[in-house]
Amino acid sequence: MGVWRGVIAEHREGLPVTGKTPLLGMAEGGTPLLEAPRLREYLGQAPRVYLKLEGMNPTGSFKDRGMVVAVAKALEEGSRMIMCASTGNTSASAAAYAARAGIKCAVLVPGGHIALGKLAQALSYGAKVLSIQGSFDDALAIVRDLCANYPVTLVNSVNPYRIEGQKTAAFEICDALGDAPDALLLPVGNAGNITAYWRGFCEYRGAGKAQSLPQMLGFQAAGASPLVLGRPVPNPETIATAIRIGNPASWEGAIRARDESGGLVEAVTDQEILEAYRLLASLEGIFAEPASAASVAGLVKLNRTGRLAHYSRVVCVLTGHGLKDPGIAMEMAVRPEEVPAALGAVAKALGLDRGGAS
Ligand code: F0G
Repeated sequence: MGVWRGVIAEHREGLPVTGKTPLLGMAEGGTPLLEAPRLREYLGQAPRVYLKLEGMNPTGSFKDRGMVVAVAKALEEGSRMIMCASTGNTSASAAAYAARAGIKCAVLVPGGHIALGKLAQALSYGAKVLSIQGSFDDALAIVRDLCANYPVTLVNSVNPYRIEGQKTAAFEICDALGDAPDALLLPVGNAGNITAYWRGFCEYRGAGKAQSLPQMLGFQAAGASPLVLGRPVPNPETIATAIRIGNPASWEGAIRARDESGGLVEAVTDQEILEAYRLLASLEGIFAEPASAASVAGLVKLNRTGRLAHYSRVVCVLTGHGLKDPGIAMEMAVRPEEVPAALGAVAKALGLDRGGAS
C-alpha cells in the first residue's frame, strides 16, 4: 500500500470520472474507522461500535469527499466559479477546493448561525462570503436560482457529483470491516449524506464487494426534524448549527434509504446531542462537532430503549471535527481554575500528595 491519493484517484472505478476529469485532490477520504470500546462498555450489552472519523478530512468534514468530485467536474466542464448555501462545512470545503483549483467561490450563509471555525476557514481560503438574515433553506433557494441564471456552478448536494463523491465513505467502511455493518448511524440535515451512503452500500453489494446491506439509522435535531414530523419546519432551531435545516433538499433520498434498508429517522434533543458530545470526548478522546454527536446520541437513545440488541456491529459517522465549533466547546466546559504560579499551589489544586514528605 502506498500513500493515500484522495477520493478521485482511489475510488476512480466507482465514480463518474473520465480521462478528461482533472485529478484534483487533497488526499481526502481514507479516514480512520476507529473502534470505541469504552463507549461500548458505557452502553452495557451493546454491539461493537465503530466511529468513521470524517473530521480527519482536509477541511475537517465529510464534505471534502463530494466537493472534490463536484469541483473536478466543474473544471472539466469549463466552469470558473462555484457557489453554495451552507450551514458552514460545505462553505469551508467549497472554498478550499476552489482555491486549490484556482477558481472563484461564493458562499451564502444564514447570518449568526455559523460556527466560528467554519467561517474562519471560508474566509481564509479566500471565498466571497455573504450572510443573509434568513435560514439555510432560504439561502439554498437563492443560490439555486442564481446558479440557474448565471455562469456559476452550484456545489450543494443537489449537484449529483457531490453525492457520488460522498458515497465512497460507504465503500471504505465495507473494505475495513470486510462487509457492511449491521447498522449505520448518522446525523441528517439536508439529507445528502444519508442518500449518498445508501447508494454506496447498494452499489458495493451490487458489485459483489459486500454481502449485506446495513440498516440506515438517521438522526435529526429535535428542533429541526422535518423528516421525523413529515413536513417542513419553517423556523428550525438547534445548537447543532450544521443540521439546522427545515426543508432538506434530498428529502426523498432519505426516505428511500430509511425504507429500503428497514431503518429509521428519529429526533434527538439538544441535551442528548450535548451528552453524546461529552461522552465521545471523555470516553474515547474523540472531539467531534455537535451535529456529528447526533449519531452517537441516536446510539445512546436506541440502546436505552433496547433497540440495539439484534446488532453485532454498528458504525456511527462523525461528520465533522470538534474544533469547528469552539464556542459550544467552551460553553460546555468547566472554566480553567486559576492558581498562583507556584509548584505548591498547582500540586494542591490537583489534589496531589507527596506521600509523607510535606
Ligand atoms: N454533519 C455535519 C458536520 C454537517 O456539516 C452536515 C451538513 C451534516 C452532518 C448533515 O449532512 O446535510 O448531508 O444531511 N452540513 C451542510 C453544510 C448542510 O452546509 O455544511 P446532510
